[in-house]
Amino acid sequence: MWRPTGLGPVGRTALMAAAIAALAATSAFAFDNMSPEQRAALEAKTVDVAATDGETAAAEGGERTIFDGVYTAEQAERGMGFFGTDCATCHSNTARGSSAAPGLIGYTLDNKYADESLFTYFDYMRSNMPPGNAGWFTDQEYADIVAYLLELHGAPAGDTELEGTEEALSTITIVPTP
Ligand code: HEC
Repeated sequence: MWRPTGLGPVGRTALMAAAIAALAATSAFAFDNMSPEQRAALEAKTVDVAATDGETAAAEGGERTIFDGVYTAEQAERGMGFFGTDCATCHSNTARGSSAAPGLIGYTLDNKYADESLFTYFDYMRSNMPPGNAGWFTDQEYADIVAYLLELHGAPAGDTELEGTEEALSTITIVPTP
């Protein structure tokens, strides 16, 4: 067996460092030489980094708020019809509330529901309103009512309808009026 006998401790370390650098230069080779444990650890780390990247992308580009044009004007128009016949008697035509029921926009969205997903607001409505007749409308019709309420609240319309699904509504956050 060859031994670097002529070298002192420092020289030996330098030689080892050179050998490691040479190994690392071909990363596939370095990977092949790893123990299964080392390899698994590296793979886990790579997956970790990829997952974190995905989350960052969602936070930066995927998240929408109620002010990002999340419903269409035509949809709000449909919602106005439902609201007028089944909700306005208690919540008033402006949805600002009456002695019979609380306001649904303005303070309610800006404060009470701030930082909640739009699904929370929708789901409360679908599960409780109108009182005694919860679930009277289809999910899409409740979404149309939400669209109308967003319009009354001052959130702008956009090009795509608001979908009445948990999946879609959960990605939209209620934030205070900018
Ligand atoms: C008979 C009167 C009445 C009718 C009709 C009615 N509501 Fe309500 N609504 C109430 C009352 C009262 C509350 C407050 C309930 C509570 O705080 O427990 C409420 C609460 C709400 C809330 C929650 C407000 C908050 O502060 O969290 C929403 C959203 C809502 N109603 C939407 C609707 C919609 C949409 C309709 C029509 C489909 C409707 N309501 C019809 C009486 C009514």
